[in-house]
Amino acid sequence: MAARSRLLLLSCIAGAGAAVVLQAARGQPDSNGFISIDCGLSGKAGYVDNATKLSYSPDAGFTDAGTDNNISAEYLSPASSRIFDNVRSFPGAAPRSCYTLRSLVPGLKYLVRANFMYGNYDGLRRPPVFDLYAGVNFWRTVNITDAAASLTAEAIIVVPEDSMQVCLLNTGAGTPFISSLDLRPLKNSLYPQANATQGLVMVARINYGPTDAFIRYPDDPHDRGWRPWIDTTRYVEVSTTKTVQNVEKDVFETPSVVMQTAITPCNASDSIEVYWTADWSTAASDLQPGYIAIMHFSELQMIQGNAVCAFNISLNDQWLDLGMMPDYLNVDSSFNTVPFRGSSRYNLTFRATTNSTLPPIINALEIFSVIPTINVPTYAKDVSGITAIKKQYQVKENWMGDPCVPKTLAWDWLTCSYAISSPPTITGVYENNNPQLCINDTCPSPNGKPKLAIYISVPVVAATVILVLSLFCLLRRKTKGSANNTVNLHNEPTSHSHGSDSYGHGSMQLENRRFTYKDLQKITNNFEQVLGKGGFGYVYYGILEEGTQVAVKLRSQSPNQGVKILTWIHHKNLISMIGYCKDGEYMVLVYEYMSEGTTEEHIAGRDHNKRNLTWTERLQITLESAQGLEYLHKGCSPPLVQRNVMATNILLNMKPEAKIADFGLSKAFNHDSDTHVSASIRVGTPGYIDPEYVISKFFFMYHATMMPTTKSDVYGFGVVLLELVTGKSPILRTPEPISLIHWSQ
Ligand SMILES: *[C@@H]1O[C@H](CO)[C@@H](O)[C@H](O)[C@H]1NC(C)=O
Ligand SMILES: *[C@@H]1O[C@H](CO)[C@@H](O)[C@H](O)[C@H]1NC(C)=O
Ligand SMILES: *[C@@H]1O[C@H](CO)[C@@H](O)[C@H](O)[C@H]1NC(C)=O
Ligand SMILES: *[C@@H]1O[C@H](CO)[C@@H](O)[C@H](O)[C@H]1NC(C)=O
Ligand SMILES: *[C@@H]1O[C@H](CO)[C@@H](O)[C@H](O)[C@H]1NC(C)=O
Ligand SMILES: *[C@@H]1O[C@H](CO)[C@@H](O)[C@H](O)[C@H]1NC(C)=O
Ligand SMILES: *[C@@H]1O[C@H](CO)[C@@H](O)[C@H](O)[C@H]1NC(C)=O
Ligand SMILES: *[C@@H]1O[C@H](CO)[C@@H](O)[C@H](O)[C@H]1NC(C)=O
Ligand SMILES: *[C@@H]1O[C@H](CO)[C@@H](O)[C@H](O)[C@H]1NC(C)=O
Repeated sequence: MAARSRLLLLSCIAGAGAAVVLQAARGQPDSNGFISIDCGLSGKAGYVDNATKLSYSPDAGFTDAGTDNNISAEYLSPASSRIFDNVRSFPGAAPRSCYTLRSLVPGLKYLVRANFMYGNYDGLRRPPVFDLYAGVNFWRTVNITDAAASLTAEAIIVVPEDSMQVCLLNTGAGTPFISSLDLRPLKNSLYPQANATQGLVMVARINYGPTDAFIRYPDDPHDRGWRPWIDTTRYVEVSTTKTVQNVEKDVFETPSVVMQTAITPCNASDSIEVYWTADWSTAASDLQPGYIAIMHFSELQMIQGNAVCAFNISLNDQWLDLGMMPDYLNVDSSFNTVPFRGSSRYNLTFRATTNSTLPPIINALEIFSVIPTINVPTYAKDVSGITAIKKQYQVKENWMGDPCVPKTLAWDWLTCSYAISSPPTITGVYENNNPQLCINDTCPSPNGKPKLAIYISVPVVAATVILVLSLFCLLRRKTKGSANNTVNLHNEPTSHSHGSDSYGHGSMQLENRRFTYKDLQKITNNFEQVLGKGGFGYVYYGILEEGTQVAVKLRSQSPNQGVKILTWIHHKNLISMIGYCKDGEYMVLVYEYMSEGTTEEHIAGRDHNKRNLTWTERLQITLESAQGLEYLHKGCSPPLVQRNVMATNILLNMKPEAKIADFGLSKAFNHDSDTHVSASIRVGTPGYIDPEYVISKFFFMYHATMMPTTKSDVYGFGVVLLELVTGKSPILRTPEPISLIHWSQ
């Protein structure tokens, strides 16, 4: 029950924080779940591929980078597939260019295939070399050596999210380009060597026997491409027109048409030999390439009388399979699960056993190299948030692919936090920016209204109400059964109340007194006891002449306007200012003394000397600080933004009564004449900063229109609520830093 309440509360905070609605994706998968993209195809119209009858779409809905190009006329061939007629190339400065494939099923296994044919599309006669990434994981290097040759990159991977990016990485050896991109869903039971942490990259997929007829969809329902092969000087084709059955629970589902042909040595006493060489150039540089071989066998002719077909399979000098005897018209597959490593050449040998009367046979073979897929993408909500910002502000630069992963390709100006057991999160945006952020005409105008409001999906007031109500639900559930421990939901005057009006006017209205520096020295006994350190300097303990305890706050700067505002703010849940001192360079503010210190110190486990708060007290702190905040936001004209709502800024007195401190940082907005000044003030504390505010502050640097808002206060307040409920800090070290907001989701 408690867990459910927690979820409700958190979902509210998430909604208030940075809910982002992405545009509906273009380019949905077809009825098979296939996505087929002809990259660089101009216009909006797709077409149906002659051979497969699959619909190919132009790529405009899948990427926002690159340019369309037609290959050189000399390379156009009516025999080759139309996907090769045009390419998309990525000549920009961004190192990484990506396609986004959407509407996927998280956790499902997919076959992803990219085709490349250079065809001298750029007239430079210089085929490039570049890297390909499947999401955030290295897939392979694409090394184009022949302008007329097509290269196929295919991977079988488990996709962790409901979308996946395929990225081309410019490695400084020419402009990346791509001819086509296909995505095909597989059943998770297929290719058991591919799992969440390991992908398979196709090296070869061979259909033994025929000399032509490249097989794919619809003959292979999974649209794998099977390349025909035979060397007629050594082998002879064996074939049948009868259907070859897959066994029950077949994990490869090799199509019958592929199994209907096979090869066997011409000389019955010969073996079948196949080899491949380790290719370090396409593997991730720091890893020894590892290989998986999957061999498919079926006897295609009825074996007469006492005849036996049995053979041993060996790799280099190692036995893989002994006495393999293929079944008549049934698929039998032999494969390794632990990758072969450590050799530069791999010889696969199929040799008849001594009592076999027939030579060996093989119908099909697949070779894969393995890739680790251990990198996890950035936390999805952060990605959608930053993506919306990117879209809104037309940020180009290197904002492509995953924002934080891999680390070497993280987006400029973002700071990311990398946890071991959870996805990386975006924790901030650098402040010292290079101003070349926007392309000229798409920048929001300097005087324009901030457009960020569209990203808020839950009105702040409603969010506040929901937050408080959720907390009530939680507390009521927690306290159910303990009859004495009821909660006053209506905020009627309690023993703590000063009998004030709804905004607390009339409660602690003290005249603002002007102190001299000498007065303060006396009050504080020459600044003897430090209470703490606030945003602008130390806070000292003091006693006025008549015995009233006070907190004396030294400020290094003197924003006059701040003082003007402060003098008329009075509310029972805001720290009262008793007086101030402006003496030359000194700016000192004198506040009422809060004997119990900060809320932060009382949240479980933070400060062992302090008493832990009861649930009722936690609720009361919530309500009282909400009222203080509401007064700043609604009761003040112009409204005030506290800017730094956090548990250390909610102070408690003996009763205990909660009051918001440090709103000296607060600034009036709406009619603000010096927003430029405030922009230079560093405001916000890690863990409490509304991600939207981080972004708006970031853009404020350029456009001078963004301000922290009452919404960012509400976000900070939500974090305080979470702290009160969970007893945890706004930034957890588990062991990598993660914000409480992210932790709790
Ligand atoms: C594909 O089919 C269309 C219509 O039948 C035909 O005009 C075109 O030449 C065919 N293309 C190829 C490459 O076979
Ligand atoms: C490529 O060729 C097609 C058809 O010939 C044409 O419509 C298109 O504009 C060309 N694209 C480019 C980028 O030249
Ligand atoms: C690309 O392939 C060619 C020919 O195999 C080779 O000489 C070259 O070193 C390769 N380039 C890279 C960057 O791997
Ligand atoms: C994936 O397979 C590899 C190799 O068999 C294995 O080491 C790894 O633990 C597997 N990962 C998962 C998540 O099952
Ligand atoms: C078949 O191979 C065996 C052993 O390699 C050899 O002795 C024999 O001459 C070969 N027969 C033919 C017809 O090539
Ligand atoms: C593989 O076969 C070739 C040719 O028969 C041979 O030269 C090579 O030594 C073999 N490699 C291994 C690792 O057995
Ligand atoms: C002959 O082959 C069969 C089938 O593999 C096997 O069971 C038997 O042991 C073999 N006999 C000899 C002598 O190798
Ligand atoms: C096949 O394997 C069996 C069992 O290890 C072995 O006895 C036999 O010699 C092998 N046959 C050949 C031709 O290598
Ligand atoms: C932006 O505008 C400046 C001045 O008008 C111009 O020099 C620059 O090339 C423009 N940059 C872009 C990316 O359009």
